[in-house]
Amino acid sequence: MKSFLLSVWTASFIFVHISQCVSGKDCVCELKNLQPPFPMEKLESFLTSAYLCTKTISSTEFMEVDTLMLGVQQRLEQLEERVSVLEKEDDGGLYGAVSLRIIELELDEILELMSKLNRTIDSHRQISQSTATKLHSMTKGMRELEALDISNVVSKERENQRVKRDLAKCEHKLQATPQPPTPQTRHCPQGQLVNVTGPRTYALTKYGTSYPYGAWGKDPKPAPGKEDMYWLVALTSSSVYANYVRHYSSLSTMLVGVGAVDTIIASSNPTTNTIEGPNVVMYGGALYYNCYYSPSVCRFNISARSVTNTQLPKNTGYYNKFPFGHLGAEYSYTDLDLATDESGVWVVYSTPENFGNMILSELIEGSPPSLGRTWNTSVYKRTVTNTFMVCGVLYATRFLDKQTEEIFYSFDTETGEERFNLKIRIQKMQTNIQSLNYNPRDRMLYAYSDAYIVSYSTVFK
Ligand SMILES: *[C@@H]1O[C@H](CO)[C@@H](O)[C@H](O)[C@H]1NC(C)=O
Ligand SMILES: *[C@@H]1O[C@H](CO)[C@@H](O)[C@H](O)[C@H]1NC(C)=O
Ligand SMILES: *[C@@H]1O[C@H](CO)[C@@H](O)[C@H](O)[C@H]1NC(C)=O
Ligand SMILES: *[C@@H]1O[C@H](CO)[C@@H](O)[C@H](O)[C@H]1NC(C)=O
Repeated sequence: MKSFLLSVWTASFIFVHISQCVSGKDCVCELKNLQPPFPMEKLESFLTSAYLCTKTISSTEFMEVDTLMLGVQQRLEQLEERVSVLEKEDDGGLYGAVSLRIIELELDEILELMSKLNRTIDSHRQISQSTATKLHSMTKGMRELEALDISNVVSKERENQRVKRDLAKCEHKLQATPQPPTPQTRHCPQGQLVNVTGPRTYALTKYGTSYPYGAWGKDPKPAPGKEDMYWLVALTSSSVYANYVRHYSSLSTMLVGVGAVDTIIASSNPTTNTIEGPNVVMYGGALYYNCYYSPSVCRFNISARSVTNTQLPKNTGYYNKFPFGHLGAEYSYTDLDLATDESGVWVVYSTPENFGNMILSELIEGSPPSLGRTWNTSVYKRTVTNTFMVCGVLYATRFLDKQTEEIFYSFDTETGEERFNLKIRIQKMQTNIQSLNYNPRDRMLYAYSDAYIVSYSTVFK
């Protein structure tokens, strides 16, 4: 504290000469400056310029280019694949025509991405040109100022600022509560997902092959006494809708198909608040799903038998606008994909504003549930077959062939990093996987595959 005050004093008065001191009632000092005044305004204007300069070049702008570039690159690769498939088809039939239409749509979106990229790059070029000019003139000006700085005003000022910063830091430390709030610590002692092995279990449900769309699993946050329970939702109306959730007391009773307990959401199917699409999850004793004919997430409380919901952003696709799929198939009414991980519940969806690319949002558990943070990705939702979350990282799968699904993509919500080259393979028992979800409690993946219920183990590094 003492040294801080002293150096302020030195910096302000060092170029001032005390010429005379008259004694009397008051002590009067006459000060004469022996040197030309230091052009403080000039220095301040440089400081302002430097501040503005830093502000225009924020790192997020450069990240935007990276993301766009990745998106374009990924799209082009996908397009190339599609065109080669189309060339092989060449049967002049409907299939070819449909594929051609999808390629046309893809091409439009690639062009749109390109022009967005072009605009961004252009604005960056302007920024960097004007910044270079400004930097040059600032450097020149600072040299001139330094020559004037005989009394080391600038260096003293710098030192003052350092001392002030230290002081502020010191005060902050004193005031700080023992445990400063830690933002979103990650609960991932297991490390990074590197492989998926199995299937561990593979069975038909009591429904037989009647319902190809559905989901199953275990509640990652079960009520006491319900830790061993498994749940199952089959889309019993047109493979699109369901109006009840089925529970089994254990895996074995489920695989054998005995002792099912059904909890009804609504008496008819479909109607307001019934389930639409297969990508549902159970969390904390409640089922989260896409509410019937609505761009919103419903939560059905199993014990209270009541539904609350939360709206997704404006223009969110629903009712088969942005489903999952691959060239040969579309997974109908999969506009919304609910997911669970170590931190809670998430939802994946899409909007035209994000070019049909996937968007990820956190769901906050409150009453009613609400949307938390949101991230745009650069993966086109229709080329993805499924997604799931592990430790705040979004993973997406694609169809390789009838035997293999591939986890090809990840998006880390903590760093914003997107990867397109994961190449983790999932061995399939049936051609399609209609729903896929991760359970952070047993670290298993639960899949519903053409009416079969399948589970896999995850391997972490
Ligand atoms: C990118 O912008 C330049 C001029 O700014 C223009 O000549 C070029 O055609 C644009 N390219 C695309 C793909 O929009
Ligand atoms: C992943 O697991 C499969 C099945 O156990 C195994 O064959 C494969 O080698 C593993 N891949 C990697 C990269 O560890
Ligand atoms: C479900 O309802 C029960 C009983 O009303 C309540 O205690 C519980 O907090 C609710 N759960 C959720 C997730 O809203
Ligand atoms: C996602 O993209 C949309 C459309 O470009 C934009 O309005 C929105 O702010 C973006 N959201 C985030 C979280 O970046």
